[in-house]
Amino acid sequence: MEIRQITADERAETMFPLQAYAFSPSPWGDENRDTYRRRMTYYRTAVSLIAEESGQALAGMGAFPMRQNVRGAIYDMAGIASVASHPSARRRGFVRALLERLLRQMRDQGCAVSALYPFRPSFYGRFGYVGLPHRRTAAFSPAGLGHLVRAVLPGTVERLPMRDGFDEYDGLVLRLLERQHGFAVYDDVRKAEFREDKKWVAVARVDGEVVGAVSYRIDRFGGDLVADDLLTTGPLGRALLLQFFAHHVDQVGRILVTVGLDDVPELWGTDLAVTTESRVVFPSSSGPMARVLDLEALTGMPVGAGAVTVEVVDDPLIQGMYRLEGDGGQLNVTKGTDASATLTIGGLSGLIYGVLDPIDVVTRGLGEVEAAAIAPLRTLFPQAKPYVFADF
Ligand SMILES: CC(C)(COP(=O)(O)OP(=O)(O)OC[C@H]1O[C@@H](n2cnc3c(N)ncnc32)[C@H](O)[C@@H]1OP(=O)(O)O)[C@@H](O)C(=O)NCCC(=O)NCCS
Repeated sequence: MEIRQITADERAETMFPLQAYAFSPSPWGDENRDTYRRRMTYYRTAVSLIAEESGQALAGMGAFPMRQNVRGAIYDMAGIASVASHPSARRRGFVRALLERLLRQMRDQGCAVSALYPFRPSFYGRFGYVGLPHRRTAAFSPAGLGHLVRAVLPGTVERLPMRDGFDEYDGLVLRLLERQHGFAVYDDVRKAEFREDKKWVAVARVDGEVVGAVSYRIDRFGGDLVADDLLTTGPLGRALLLQFFAHHVDQVGRILVTVGLDDVPELWGTDLAVTTESRVVFPSSSGPMARVLDLEALTGMPVGAGAVTVEVVDDPLIQGMYRLEGDGGQLNVTKGTDASATLTIGGLSGLIYGVLDPIDVVTRGLGEVEAAAIAPLRTLFPQAKPYVFADF
């Protein structure tokens, strides 16, 4: 078996059959391959690898060059996607070999972190990824927002086709990248495809400044208004967008909208009957996972106070002994000796992303932490809720 990096144009002949068989209804028609081929213009900056035997591609995967906010600092991130192998080539280690090579390559290109959406988290747990919160969807009747219908709010909402609203929408996404832990965004090449999405975007503005935006579609008269993430800079942006939803009361039966981890939809109105849920179903719907690819590159990341030496084990990319110190609110990473915690890369990543307490690391079998190291690890990496946003 040989691993080869291919161009975006080569993907239609090599990766498409693997992906189409794995993720789409099949058999597929020629038109599906043609559509895929056209879309590859948005994959020009993705790194695509295939595993071949006798000239036949038997497994493939890609990495999008993305950026992610981790605790307030922004890092280059490898967004892993398009992972598939030929059914007759499965369980032969091809995907392991591809992922190990791809992660090293992306780390060498400057990616400090990586994220993906797993078909099954335990598969990627073997490669050091740790689970992050799954997106939550709120479902409610617009009638529950009746209090907003006639409210006079100091702002406006404009509905635009995505093509026309994309720049403002994307401008807000980039502002939220600066302030939202976990937020991940694509590069310009990949995101250009979303400008063509057959969706509406509602843009909320106050004094000309965008304070909220949500993309959505309506499935039918009397049916659902299905919205993506409710992106806002604060309560006024949210109120403006909810008021916009409220004005659909005689048009749709339900609003479905993805909400942030700090949103509490049942408090959006006095009589709002709402179901907020996060459904994990394998292989089709699970939360993202993330891992650190380069610990030293995280120097300077905003953290709490504390100092501890950890040994990272079982990871070809970053195993070793590190001294981690919260120095004036910023992380300092240096080589260390005499570790008081032994962490797998999953355990370390869980602490850094704020999704695992040191006790969780131990109870989940992701490391061993001496009693004296629990408090400094906890204060250095306080719990936090990464909201990834990007889907890939
Ligand atoms: C998932 C998929 C890519 C795995 O490919 P594969 O070629 O069988 O993977 P490998 O042989 O390289 O296996 C890598 C490791 O994962 C393990 N593994 C394989 N399938 C697993 C599963 N369902 N759950 C947990 N671990 C699994 C293997 O035993 C192996 O472990 P080891 O290296 O420690 O021995 C393949 O089954 C596939 O294409 N499925 C359909 C598409 C899909 O789900 N893609 C993933 C999208 S996120």
